[in-house]
Amino acid sequence: MRIGFVQFAPCFGEKEKNFTSVRELLKGCKADLLVLPELFATGYTFISVDEVNGFSESLEGETAAFARQLAVSTGAVIVAGFIERENGCYYNASLLADATGLLAVYRKIHLFNKEKLWFSPGNRPPQVVTVRDMKIGMMICFDWIFPETCRSLALQGAQVIAHPSNLVLPWAQQAMTTRCLENRVFAVTANRIGREQRGDDDFTFTGQSRITGCKGEVLASAPEDETCLSIIEIDPALADDKSVNPYNDLLSDRRSQFYSL
Ligand code: ACM
Repeated sequence: MRIGFVQFAPCFGEKEKNFTSVRELLKGCKADLLVLPELFATGYTFISVDEVNGFSESLEGETAAFARQLAVSTGAVIVAGFIERENGCYYNASLLADATGLLAVYRKIHLFNKEKLWFSPGNRPPQVVTVRDMKIGMMICFDWIFPETCRSLALQGAQVIAHPSNLVLPWAQQAMTTRCLENRVFAVTANRIGREQRGDDDFTFTGQSRITGCKGEVLASAPEDETCLSIIEIDPALADDKSVNPYNDLLSDRRSQFYSL
């Protein structure tokens, strides 16, 4: 399976321009799974709920339509961040689409910083979607710091974690080594680059998108401040073998009666 990430600097509030940037970057590209950053079409640093409302979309919105077009042109399953609106609530969400249309949506369950002012926390558990024989789980950015997110996806059989991100803290890229190692899963962390100064916030996004192997290897990585497309070949089935040695297995050795989680 050819899996990859797109790293770029979205322009705040300029959906069409951001769609064009991604389209240009992926011109002529063929893959099986492509992951775009969190909120790639809108930017990140909102200053009011009204602003979030203005950028929000239903599942029939322009970002879902764009993802479907991208799936047609690249042949890939597309995972990409967007603002989902439902019943007066706004979710920091990630969609999964192929050429037939939208297959799944994940609503970020661990909101970071002022996201708590704009978004409702995700109200559904992270789930695994099987597409083209690949079992894909989605999580979004700050979800990385809660190991339960990756673990719950691994327990459901995820082979590849698609991880759209707008990272501003310095630890996640390296931490994904541990997340992948402890769960024996692949992960595609698609981060953004650039700086956003809005209201009293000033964020510099940390780039360094990466694809992490199911034994914690860094299979691909991007610079911290350059646009980058990276696609590599993996065998997702390698994630199905959870054994460490003849006596240890990452999932069946869990002593869940002692963890109360
Ligand atoms: C983040 O969760 N966007 C830092």
